[in-house]
Amino acid sequence: MQNIVDLHAVLRSSLASLGDRMNTPADDMSDDMSIADAFRRSMSLLTASVAVVTTKVEDRPWGMTITACCSVSTAPPTVLISLGEASATTHAVAEQGEYGLCLMGTGGVATAEFAAAPGRPKFLDEPHLAAPVAATPCVRGAIAHLDCLVTRTIPVADHVLFIGEVRGVSFPSSAPTLLYGAREFHRTVPALQLAGTETDLHALAYSMW
Ligand SMILES: Cc1cc2nc3c(=O)[nH]c(=O)nc-3n(C[C@H](O)[C@H](O)[C@H](O)COP(=O)(O)O)c2cc1C
Repeated sequence: MQNIVDLHAVLRSSLASLGDRMNTPADDMSDDMSIADAFRRSMSLLTASVAVVTTKVEDRPWGMTITACCSVSTAPPTVLISLGEASATTHAVAEQGEYGLCLMGTGGVATAEFAAAPGRPKFLDEPHLAAPVAATPCVRGAIAHLDCLVTRTIPVADHVLFIGEVRGVSFPSSAPTLLYGAREFHRTVPALQLAGTETDLHALAYSMW
């Protein structure tokens, strides 16, 4: 019982510190903040699941971290990813006509950081590459791998949307989903674990570690 009480205290204090950092006083876009800066700031508040898009460059496995992906349709199973037009990954996916979408678990932070380094080669070797599960590469720490065939390519502003028909799905490992928000990695905590008080029941259901 003591341990459970302590766990609640730790979770509450963790949420409080997260709240302090996120709930800065409300302010509108100030005159010196451009729409681009305000947009970036607003999107940093959109916590999302982390994925690594995989492809091949020079016939070697390659991966880049993204959050801009979503389910589009179930019949046929279809997903969408959004990649910066200037990225080497974008050119590789366009050339290959296929991509892997690795949904990351909490064990995949190091790989997600590696695959997010701007302007750096993103070849997947040890320790980031997992055993092959499909035609497209899979990364360590993936909790689901979607093997996708590009069916449509849609340039939008400075990004390219790749619509992918899902040819196969595998579940290489099991772990809580890895999230990214407020420029940090997070993991989910079931809301009921925070249910010590009425306020906690309505609290943000994730905490940092
Ligand atoms: C958590 C996270 C999410 C990201 N999401 C995207 C995304 O959805 N699309 C994208 O093009 N880049 C995204 N990036 C940036 C890429 O991972 C990468 O750093 C950037 O595009 C530069 O890659 P480059 O070396 O190809 O220039 C994200 C980075 C992080 C850390």
